[in-house]
Amino acid sequence: MKNSTGAYAADGGVRSSSRESDDIERSLVIIKPDAVRKNIVGEIISRFEKEGLVIEDLKMMRITRELACQHYFEHQNKDFFGKLVEYICSDRVVVMIIKGRDAIRRVRRLMGPTDPKKAEKGTIRGDFGTDITVNAIHGSDCKESAEREIKLFFG
Ligand code: CDP
Ligand code: MG
Repeated sequence: MKNSTGAYAADGGVRSSSRESDDIERSLVIIKPDAVRKNIVGEIISRFEKEGLVIEDLKMMRITRELACQHYFEHQNKDFFGKLVEYICSDRVVVMIIKGRDAIRRVRRLMGPTDPKKAEKGTIRGDFGTDITVNAIHGSDCKESAEREIKLFFG
């Protein structure tokens, strides 16, 4: 819930009245291989926690080609698909369910746009991304994607 200064409560708005609980969202976030290799997992996670979002679940894993193809199926006919699958499978990732009021939009705001060159400093991609493929982080783009992606990674 937002307080009088417009900020979200430290619990990400999770402990709110039943009337408001409908607005609590979950986003599937992946700290991608480049960010894991750079040793900035903690730095990235702390940005979500400082924003007041809650980590509901978290694991480190290596994504298989099969899982990568399922996760990114909407891009399967794009010219960058092969490169994207290679990259996301190239090393371990950290996968999280991040929860809070309006979590999907808030996560994507913290991430910044897909292309780090267009991302402002202070966003995760602006600070840590390398290029439009190697861009440090994934966050679900809408409720339907979030639900699908959470099932895919956490069952
Ligand atoms: O991740 P986001 O939702 O911001 O972007 P997307 O359009 O759903 O693309 C998924 C991922 O594909 C991006 O995060 C990039 O890693 C990669 N991508 C790429 O390699 N080249 C592009 N032109 C666009 C996206
Ligand atoms: Mg996307």
